[in-house]
Amino acid sequence: MSVSAVVADQSVCASLPVLGRDVTVPLVTGGEVTYAALDYAASAPALQRVWDDVAAYAPYYGSVHRGAGYLSQLSTDLFENARRTVAEFLDCRDGDQVVFSRSTTDSLNLLAAALPADCQVFVFETEHHASLLPWRNARVTYLDAPSSPRQAVETLERALADRTVPIEGGYGPALVCVTGASNVTGELWPVRELAAAAHAHGARIVLDAAQLAPHHPVSVADLDVDWVAFSGHKLYAPFGSGVLAGRADWLREADPYLAGGGASRKVARRTDGGVDVEWHESAARHEAGSPNVIGAYSIASACTALTEAGFDNLVAREQYLIEKVRTGLAEVPEVRILSLFGDDAPRVGVISFVVEGWNSSHFAAALSAEYGIGVRDGLFCAHPLLRTLLGSDPQTQGECGAPEAAPGEKSLNAIRVSFGAGTPDEHVERFVDAVKELVQDGARWNYRTEDGRCVPDTSA
Ligand code: ALA
Repeated sequence: MSVSAVVADQSVCASLPVLGRDVTVPLVTGGEVTYAALDYAASAPALQRVWDDVAAYAPYYGSVHRGAGYLSQLSTDLFENARRTVAEFLDCRDGDQVVFSRSTTDSLNLLAAALPADCQVFVFETEHHASLLPWRNARVTYLDAPSSPRQAVETLERALADRTVPIEGGYGPALVCVTGASNVTGELWPVRELAAAAHAHGARIVLDAAQLAPHHPVSVADLDVDWVAFSGHKLYAPFGSGVLAGRADWLREADPYLAGGGASRKVARRTDGGVDVEWHESAARHEAGSPNVIGAYSIASACTALTEAGFDNLVAREQYLIEKVRTGLAEVPEVRILSLFGDDAPRVGVISFVVEGWNSSHFAAALSAEYGIGVRDGLFCAHPLLRTLLGSDPQTQGECGAPEAAPGEKSLNAIRVSFGAGTPDEHVERFVDAVKELVQDGARWNYRTEDGRCVPDTSA
């Protein structure tokens, strides 16, 4: 049997099932259909394994780091073991810290708050807002969108070589922030090469792995990145936790991200009436408040499940689905797939496109209401990237029902389909068939704009 036949028989899909696979949703045209969750890039469904692990632990739930009882101690062990599991999953170096946060956004804001004085930050304008915006209080250089991975490296090298702020004969600290896989195009960025360029110029690098970690193995040691951030809810573990992992020094030297219990080792009143605080130097320094043990445990469970399923299998299965979608969309001349790096660029299962003559919100609403397919439309929290890809001033709203862009004109926003572990063939096949049918026959229902979104008009 060929590799593609093995992949096509959905064995990986079956071995790593997700919740919601039997959920049916009503169609506006009548009847019900199994929901096709094709918005993994926003939030992936929970792995069944993660859900089962959390359910098995739930009766033993207790406070972490702050209780003498048996269940508190068990929960503390579980939390600290989760840290070790994540460190292994990311192939961290000795001495790296794993800090549990709320999300990728939270992790990158944490790192931004821990930057040394005078740190200069370099970030491509193509980043998701979570990696574009946290650095606004630092000295940020925004780099133009590259048109190839090679140009990305060259652009970064030029910018780092042009650093103009010598401090005591050398240069101050610098940080590069880059995504591993775009949340819009799904394209992989040349992380290893960017890390080498950063280090060659005395800068550090943080990898936004929100869209990469669910699809590809991430090795901190091998990629030689200084930090990596990702979210549980995109890694099949939607329980409110994220991760920042990497070098301890900047984190240890920074003020705690949040001040409070858990981050502080010792607090005492001073004779002048103030308060002296000794902060922890471990990851706990940035985890004030009661830790989200279920969030951390669920991430560790997802890491274990993905590792056991084997990324080689997951990647092969996903590439098969990507090919199916791209080939199907290529048969529709009105569809334009958005890409920075071109057709041959390696990518994960995240594909954005526009349909000539269609309002993207209208198209996405019809996919949902008439076919039971959940995708995302809009600008995907990456406005500057969408401006580059669409070649127009992007807008989140268009007038529903009327094409926002006449044939031949530029679209103002886009549609995104994304998938991963547990996605059956039928979901992507239904999606491709629905796109073809909508483009050919139009929507079967009327839609109206409500709060800036297209919704089926059920008033008649
Ligand atoms: N970052 C998420 C997305 O791209 C929310 O949809």
